[in-house]
Amino acid sequence: MELPNQENEMSKMLNGQVHILNQSLKFINSMSLKCALHLNIPEIIKNHCAPMTLTELITALGINKSKANCLFRLMRILINSGYFISQKISENEQGYVVAPSASFHSTKDASLIRIDVSLVAPVLQPAFVKPWDYLTKWFLNEEFCDMTPFEMAFQMSYWEYLRKEENAGRHFNESVAIDARLIGGVMIKECREIFEEIESVVDVGGGTGTASMIIANAFPNLRCINFDLEHVVDGLTSSENLVHVAGDMFQAVPPANVALLKWILHDWNDEECVKILKRCKEAVESSKEKGGRVMIIETVVNPDEKQKQVDEETRETQLLLDMLMMVLVGGKERDEKEWGQLFADAGFTRYKITPIFGFRSLIQLYP
Ligand SMILES: C[S@@+](CC[C@H](N)C(=O)[O-])C[C@H]1O[C@@H](n2cnc3c(N)ncnc32)[C@H](O)[C@@H]1O
Repeated sequence: MELPNQENEMSKMLNGQVHILNQSLKFINSMSLKCALHLNIPEIIKNHCAPMTLTELITALGINKSKANCLFRLMRILINSGYFISQKISENEQGYVVAPSASFHSTKDASLIRIDVSLVAPVLQPAFVKPWDYLTKWFLNEEFCDMTPFEMAFQMSYWEYLRKEENAGRHFNESVAIDARLIGGVMIKECREIFEEIESVVDVGGGTGTASMIIANAFPNLRCINFDLEHVVDGLTSSENLVHVAGDMFQAVPPANVALLKWILHDWNDEECVKILKRCKEAVESSKEKGGRVMIIETVVNPDEKQKQVDEETRETQLLLDMLMMVLVGGKERDEKEWGQLFADAGFTRYKITPIFGFRSLIQLYP
């Protein structure tokens, strides 16, 4: 009889320990990034225009020299996360530069996409963090069936919270506007043919109108409608071919050739999604012969057997967002089968998925 290989068992346990510790301490990556952004480290290093030594960084930050080793360790974890690179300056000296993939573009240059503290800020606010403490209770107690963990934590829905807490609302709008700028840029390139063929587009739940503005500027002959709740569009300035319209997408959507739904449906449960989709179908129905369609920009979670077709980071981002939607708003990230069911329930006959937006895809829905 073969005896259990004790060395093997110990090594498995040690590996297990690494895995569990690594996973449970991952929040430190987010918190370290938050700190670096609040200290304005990316901007300072970028403006230095050459690899910046630790001593130079300490001086620029105006922090006490006794914290030099701590700053070195903060920078080391951020290098490990891929935000910065340490470059050799001389035999004995290293300097920090911002990693090209980190996209910390200058906030002063409006033509560049600004991925900075405004993008990360809402993610690390109490509104995003506190509801997780309620998740176990939410799973276990029947009485919370009709609530989200967010509602348990704050006694109001996430949308009410954004309306009441001015700062949180502003951070949220800024953060989605950054994403809209990024995706808007891709859209005017990748969807050029669609926008050149149609006369009007309504951005349903378009927030403060960033995506609409980009589309309106790129296609001056296109009539753009940015449609969102009253408190979101209130005070926004319209232009030649862009109007901001207040309303409730569950009641009615302004008619247009194309209804755009970017990052909307993942906020809602299936029943609510079917209602929104039906309103969008009504809005584009009369344009059926003129290229009328609904354009959805959302995640399509790959089923497990196809998991290897997307890279690990993309897949993990989709799953993290799925959990966030569950906890915050009772929404979800959907796989193709789930999307197909929603489309059929809303009365659509045909759809096409094109994965052109990083972790998200373009889904075209034909009435
Ligand atoms: C996640 S944001 C997406 C914003 C924008 N589409 C984007 O991706 O940049 C969701 C948007 O839906 C809007 N919204 C929520 N409920 C709505 C409703 N009943 N009618 C219209 N818009 C609504 C919110 O105000 C918010 O601007």
